[in-house]
Amino acid sequence: MTLEMVQESELLEGFDATIAHNQRIEPRDWMPEGYRKTLIRQIAQHAHSEIIGMQPEGNWITSSPSLRRKAILLAKVQDEAGHGMYLYSAAETLGVDRAELTERLLSGAQKYSSIFNYPTLTYADMGTIGWLVDGAAICNQVPLCRSSYGPYGRAMIRVCKEESFHQRQGFELLMTMMRGTEEQRAMVQESVNRWWWPSLMMFGPPDDDSPNTAQSMAWGIKRHTNDELRQRFVDMSVPQAEVLGVTLPDPDLRWNAERESHDFGAPDWSELMDVIKGNGLCNAERIANRRKAHEDGAWVREAATAFALKNAKESVA
Ligand SMILES: [Fe+2]
Ligand SMILES: [Fe+2]
Repeated sequence: MTLEMVQESELLEGFDATIAHNQRIEPRDWMPEGYRKTLIRQIAQHAHSEIIGMQPEGNWITSSPSLRRKAILLAKVQDEAGHGMYLYSAAETLGVDRAELTERLLSGAQKYSSIFNYPTLTYADMGTIGWLVDGAAICNQVPLCRSSYGPYGRAMIRVCKEESFHQRQGFELLMTMMRGTEEQRAMVQESVNRWWWPSLMMFGPPDDDSPNTAQSMAWGIKRHTNDELRQRFVDMSVPQAEVLGVTLPDPDLRWNAERESHDFGAPDWSELMDVIKGNGLCNAERIANRRKAHEDGAWVREAATAFALKNAKESVA
């Protein structure tokens, strides 16, 4: 064994002990390359999802039915921008550059959540996204507050607090519509019919098809499997649907007393794979918008760089 190999095995021992004691890995700590790469991929994908996720709802800000609804939606969409910023910063602590991550998003080398490739067709979708999409995000993200990587776990604490506001505003919007006219109730039901299955897909493929889960759990990056989180989401949503008075579009959905959980049907996994491959209804539009926003912002980045250089020169002089 070379000296380098001995050092590396000692470092790995220290890293494993930190994880085993449920303590956190911080940016300056040694970490295996695989851990670093997995985290960069996961945090970047999460950051991209927050930023792209502004588009489906952003389209409706100017069509909000009242000033109150507009203020709520605007605040929510701005929160998502903030989540993206925290997460890009967390990714940068792993030694990647934000500009590089944006490039990877625009080139398709890195993904974002497939849910944002579905169109928003009615204002009821603003409520359903808050209720189901942000609700699924909460199920996914609450355990990430205990992620083994410090900057990611800490970013998640604030993000989750804001996500819970998003979920409640969505539920409240739907509740208001359900107390309205027959037409409004039908609009809510139609919206829930479209978003239910894509929301279940947000937890990723079934555990049998999720080869990276075991390693991510061993590293404390992930705390539960995709199927566990999906089950938790279904069990949480069923009573909420009852309160709202909407029907979840799954004929196989029923309480299983033995398991003390709901049985439910399988989403169309081929649809998920197809959307991930780029064939969803809005994939091209979402990336084209993001690219244009990035290009339109070039002058801001140039001005900020010039200003920083000028300040640095002045402080030296
Ligand atoms: Fe968010
Ligand atoms: Fe959100």
